[in-house]
Amino acid sequence: MTTLRSADPLWYKDAVFYQLNVKSFADSNADGIGDFPGLTSKLDHLASLGVDCLWLQPMYPSPFKDDGYDISDYTSIHPGYGTRQDFEHFLSQAHARGLRVIIELVLNHTSDQHAWFQEARSSTDNPRRDWYVWSETDDRYRGVRIIFIDTELSNWAWDPVSKSYYWHRFFSHQPDLNYDNPAVREEIWAVMKFWLNLGVDGFRVDAVPYLIEREGTSCENLPETHAVLKELRARLDADFTGKVLLAEANMWPEDVRPYFGAGDEFHMSFHFPIMPRMFMALRLEDRKPLLDIIERTPSIPDSCQWGIFLRNHDELTLEMVTEIERQYMWDEYAKDPRARINLGIRRRLAPLVEGDRRRIELMSGLLMSLPGSPILYYGDEIGMGDNVYLGDRNSVRTPMQWNGGFNAGFSGADPERLWLPLISNAVYGYQAVNVESQERNSTSLLNWTRRLIEVRRVTKVFGRGSIEFLKPENHRVLAFTRTQGRDTVLVVSNLAGTAQVAELDLARLAGAIPIEMFGGSIFPRIGHEPYIMMMGPYDFYWFRLRWL
Ligand code: NOJ
Ligand code: CA
Repeated sequence: MTTLRSADPLWYKDAVFYQLNVKSFADSNADGIGDFPGLTSKLDHLASLGVDCLWLQPMYPSPFKDDGYDISDYTSIHPGYGTRQDFEHFLSQAHARGLRVIIELVLNHTSDQHAWFQEARSSTDNPRRDWYVWSETDDRYRGVRIIFIDTELSNWAWDPVSKSYYWHRFFSHQPDLNYDNPAVREEIWAVMKFWLNLGVDGFRVDAVPYLIEREGTSCENLPETHAVLKELRARLDADFTGKVLLAEANMWPEDVRPYFGAGDEFHMSFHFPIMPRMFMALRLEDRKPLLDIIERTPSIPDSCQWGIFLRNHDELTLEMVTEIERQYMWDEYAKDPRARINLGIRRRLAPLVEGDRRRIELMSGLLMSLPGSPILYYGDEIGMGDNVYLGDRNSVRTPMQWNGGFNAGFSGADPERLWLPLISNAVYGYQAVNVESQERNSTSLLNWTRRLIEVRRVTKVFGRGSIEFLKPENHRVLAFTRTQGRDTVLVVSNLAGTAQVAELDLARLAGAIPIEMFGGSIFPRIGHEPYIMMMGPYDFYWFRLRWL
């Protein structure tokens, strides 16, 4: 039975998303790896948190050299995660709680273990040869940037079997599919249809800018790539309704804008550059970086939506900042060089802000009130820590901390067998930071986050409204209104660790009475003179404006 919270086909414009990896969530059979029965048993936690849609990271068979983003079979469930039936049961149980589910579509590349690649490399006249991008030399597409700069030296890798080079934008074990080949496009649509028919609500589409290569270009964001994506969207719209496609395009806003097309390409796209600027604004105690990027963001079609986030399973990426800004971010947020990877920082939200509850709240408050649909990363609702001694980006992928008991309630396996060790230090360890203890404490971060989500969810203007900045003289204060029709919300945030006062010019709202949205307190009526806001360190206020 499906009892989704909203029947609106534009549901994603109001939704709060929650990202998780099945593997790290809950292990039902004590083999050290989270699985679908485990996840299903934790759906009540997610429903009570108040989120609307789960985003599952890849749950396909994989050699796991890139944590599942190296897929070896697109229409099966990784055996360690359970069976197809376990997945279907999970999906129906999620739907029964009103939760939608999107899954991952890694379409740019496969694992080199995928049967398609095995066939393609087996001989140059194999029918699947042309499913990948081959070359006799490694000097084609010169100058195309390397993304995983800590591990890869070239976008070409030598295949000793067929004695030629193949193209890969990510790890060398992830050969890029050849989207010039109609058979590849056909196959990917068949994969999408397979999961849509099982009832998934959409896809987070991985690495979309890199589908097509052309000599003399950056091989990124090419018109030919957009054409492929538009074709997939048209096929989706012809056969299904109420589904969402969310693009992962780590690019500047003006380069991401075309992924929305005229509302005929992606429904949603992550807004990557806003994320480091939220952290930058916090550290600088200055709204400028955040304001600049939002003002530079082009408008998008009405049916489209940005996806915004504070953290995810990858490094806090610093690709979309200047050299100077990147150095600043590294100096301030990754003093320990181990915390750095590629062009980013492999840390979680709580340690990034030194465990400061006020800063976690302020950042979460911004996430929930800026334009776009917020995406929470699992574990951040309880303030989980990270482990920079683990390889790759595993520092932020450790098992969910459910309670203070054996293996944090994540698994009954011997601790040595867990796919990643639990965080167990005195500050962020599972004995101190876990769901069960935060359930028992009404003032915990978990309960605070619940309340935040609840207020966000009943305030449609956050998902759909316009934004207007107020720009008081005090740069430490970020103030804006969100407006849709007759609804206006005023958001005022103190980015500084010291008390601040700001004079807001609210003359255009004269006559309105601000009602604080968490406690319902009535503030003085707005007049024509500057509205004085006094704020403690890292305070933020949300006001609903009423004309009474
Ligand atoms: C983007 C994913 O977020 C990341 O985890 C992965 O390594 C790359 N795509 C390559 O698939
Ligand atoms: Ca398991």
